Amino acid sequence: MRIFIAGFGTVGQGLAEVLDSREIFFKKRYGDNVKIVGVMDSKTYVTDPEGLAPMDLVSRKAETKRVGSRTYTDALEVLDSVDYDILVEVSPTNYETGGQGLKNIVHALECGKDVITTNKGPLAIKFGDLIALARRNRCKLKFEGSVGGAMPIINLCHDNLVGEKIQSIRGILNGTCNYILSKMDSGQPFEQALKEAQQLGYAEADPTGDVGGYDSACKVVILANSVFGRNVTFSDVSITGITGITEEAIALAKSRNMVVRLIGEVTDTKLEVAPRLVPRGHPLAVTGTLNAAQILSDLAGPITITGRGAGRLETASAILSDLISVLDDREE
Ligand code: HSE
Repeated sequence: MRIFIAGFGTVGQGLAEVLDSREIFFKKRYGDNVKIVGVMDSKTYVTDPEGLAPMDLVSRKAETKRVGSRTYTDALEVLDSVDYDILVEVSPTNYETGGQGLKNIVHALECGKDVITTNKGPLAIKFGDLIALARRNRCKLKFEGSVGGAMPIINLCHDNLVGEKIQSIRGILNGTCNYILSKMDSGQPFEQALKEAQQLGYAEADPTGDVGGYDSACKVVILANSVFGRNVTFSDVSITGITGITEEAIALAKSRNMVVRLIGEVTDTKLEVAPRLVPRGHPLAVTGTLNAAQILSDLAGPITITGRGAGRLETASAILSDLISVLDDREE
């Protein structure tokens, strides 16, 4: 049960903190069997087959901006340099090519490792191929944190609603846009609200992906493929972001007791991200950086969930649940 963490930004560090805080839980459940044997950030890495202390990694990163003392040019060589069982891939997302994250995931699956990821780009671009690769190599590929952060939408649909016919999912899948739209509703200008969302650590490094609707579109693709069994990619989604939303539009919605929200929608035939009018007080009219989703299925009817869509510990919470599920399967 050796873990390699690829990516040591907000989410990777959050995971290290969570693993440290759950040390007793892990010991009770799995004995001394779970350890981090390797970590890399964008330039450096550190490995130790005996296990690395999570909080030492966090401190070193805070002090030196690097997680390891050794630099690298080829991430795949680093992955090959130590024996591990589970790759946690949390490097920065790339919506266009899948970036290094995609290469890391493919490499790990090809080598027979289980993979847990929150990295949206690789999943949105190559979902079908990655699932097929994982199946061929009898590996697990888990990605709860890639949609809705701590809001447990993927595993809810896969586990609790297994056997249901899910008819539609509509939801707020981007905290940055929701924050901006909520603040505009209280009279704040777009640019100032975006700056605040960046300061809160919600916006992507390049926030065009958030406000342009691309981040929500990635999540729509992940839901369509994993919950609806579709075989779609990013370019199949009809995307309208929130950059065209004026203060006048917000005021008009307000005068009708409505709010504007960026809604992602998936059905068997629809894939869409667009700003929509939502009645004030409706379960999807959540404020701030919250995410929310309404799942409609044939037996259960509508189920609404809401939760924190991003954040250091919140996203690590989703990884933790995937990790425990993979570890439990390995124990059997
Ligand atoms: N930038 C994303 C958001 C982060 O604002 O929701 C979580 O995917």
